[in-house]
Amino acid sequence: MTVAPPPTRSLTDSFGRRITYLRLSVTDRCDLRCRYCMSEAMTFLPRAEVLTIEELADVAEAFIARGVTKIRLTGGEPLIRRGAPTLARMIGRHIGQGLDELTLTTNGTQLVRQSADLFAAGIRRINVSLDSCDPDRFRLITRWGKVEEVLEGIAAAKAAGLHVKINMVALKGLNEDEIEPMLRWCAAEGHDLTLIETMPLGSIDEDRTDRYLPLDAVQRRLAERFTLTPLDDRTGGPARYHRVEELGARIGLITPLTQNFCAGCNRVRVTASGRLYLCLGHDDRVDLKAALREGGRPALDALLDGAMAIKPLKHAFRIDRRADAPAVARHMSVTGG
Ligand code: 5AD
Ligand code: SF4
Repeated sequence: MTVAPPPTRSLTDSFGRRITYLRLSVTDRCDLRCRYCMSEAMTFLPRAEVLTIEELADVAEAFIARGVTKIRLTGGEPLIRRGAPTLARMIGRHIGQGLDELTLTTNGTQLVRQSADLFAAGIRRINVSLDSCDPDRFRLITRWGKVEEVLEGIAAAKAAGLHVKINMVALKGLNEDEIEPMLRWCAAEGHDLTLIETMPLGSIDEDRTDRYLPLDAVQRRLAERFTLTPLDDRTGGPARYHRVEELGARIGLITPLTQNFCAGCNRVRVTASGRLYLCLGHDDRVDLKAALREGGRPALDALLDGAMAIKPLKHAFRIDRRADAPAVARHMSVTGG
């Protein structure tokens, strides 16, 4: 019996890494202002620069045709864009026909209203950012968010049949003491938990160094209280997972700073304005919007091969730079988490 070869037109970078995962930003806008992510006076792209919903779907289809099997809708906050459910439906049609999975990263504020639509579009797993379950702390971190809204949203998502993974950015002196309670809450609710180190992306109003909490130390502290068994599970992203035996829970760690994960990189990102970024930590990019608007899908497709050639080997994040000089000028909300 012969094994089918991978699609000949698959996307492979100059280091031999096959690109199978696209993170597509629906909008750079957000209804929150998390302190580690953006400044209070953050400015957003003019609407004319943002791809239409149809163009975003076109981009997604172009990548699916080139062997991308997983797409994550992200932002900013993807669900504050009116066309988000339509986009999810348009992309969701490809599930089982080239696309294995469509997922979403959200801050959870719109989930009460939108969870059922997301499920209907074919989404089965979502990541919800939740850095604190305490109303005052949550407001402090997000500048004005209401945690009740997000908790209700998470409950609605679960009720709609969506599997929820909580993303918690570990922040020294801000939510450090909530890591264990969050883990227990997630275990009780049946959610996975992923802890993330703050990354130097875009200017914020404070110095990220002050809030940087290395996760190797957090892991050591957790290991004093719980049995952590390393798991081989990969969900296509950079997290390394452990089973927390006593709780029957799963915890993921995203450690761009303490342990580089770039060797197995399988992903690229497209911004809401149609820029294809080859790495979260570099400025190398290709403008898909101009190609799409001027030459349609064939022109866009032709750009993808050239893009593969410039995908960098790894990011070069360091956390010891000042907040006014981040390693990468653009914010996570622009490139998509
Ligand atoms: N460093 C680390 N994580 C960040 N996020 C946003 N900005 C940063 C940053 N500078 C997180 C969000 C979300 C995920 C996509 O990335 O909280 O959970
Ligand atoms: Fe919005 Fe997410 Fe940034 Fe918070 S981290 S401001 S929710 S994009």
